[in-house]
Amino acid sequence: IVFMNFNYLILSYFDENKRDLPWRYTKDPFCIWLSEIILQQTRVDQGMKFYNNFIQEFETIFDLANADEQKVLKLWQGLGYYSRARNLHFTAKMITDEYNGQFPDNFKDLKKLKGVGDYTAAAIASIVYNEAVPAVDGNMFRVFARYFNITDDISSPKTKKIFWDLGLEIIDKKRPGDFNQAVMDLGATICTPKQPKCEICPLNESCEALRLNRVNELPVKLKK
Ligand code: ADE
Repeated sequence: IVFMNFNYLILSYFDENKRDLPWRYTKDPFCIWLSEIILQQTRVDQGMKFYNNFIQEFETIFDLANADEQKVLKLWQGLGYYSRARNLHFTAKMITDEYNGQFPDNFKDLKKLKGVGDYTAAAIASIVYNEAVPAVDGNMFRVFARYFNITDDISSPKTKKIFWDLGLEIIDKKRPGDFNQAVMDLGATICTPKQPKCEICPLNESCEALRLNRVNELPVKLKK
């Protein structure tokens, strides 16, 4: 019952206030995959320009697969972590050569792609294929820890499963991609690590951490 309220509030917030981002106009797995790889270690405001450049240069996965590696690396210049660019090119070639250009269409198979871990696979599976899997990252830890007053230490590897299980349970089954992206947006703009904007938070009436006046103590992170 608490979960239903969370879903309703965060999806209403998303519908009214979602960030206008270029990859939110498509469900093409190639585009969503590209955007999620870029956003792994890059901020949204910086990533947008690179995403647009890539999409302009490579309209499909075949264009990327056939491109010169030097050209891919050149377009990546400024983003850092060049292994991402090499994985991107490698995976494009593998998908065209071995999968006929067809992207894996579920969480489990997406995870087999080089450079795609739990978070990225969940983001792609939920956004493109409506699979109800939670994208667990720092934003999700923070939003969930605060709203549900979860005090487990997020620097402990075991804790991820607690959030994963809770996420699995409460993720909106009709709109899993919007749900995950709503958590990202809330975490990036309102439920921020420092000076969160609780006054304007759409979830402030039912947030446990706010009620207990311990927003700034959550999430708990013991190791630095
Ligand atoms: N960070 C990672 N994936 C994202 C997405 N789809 N939208 C906004 N921020 C993100």
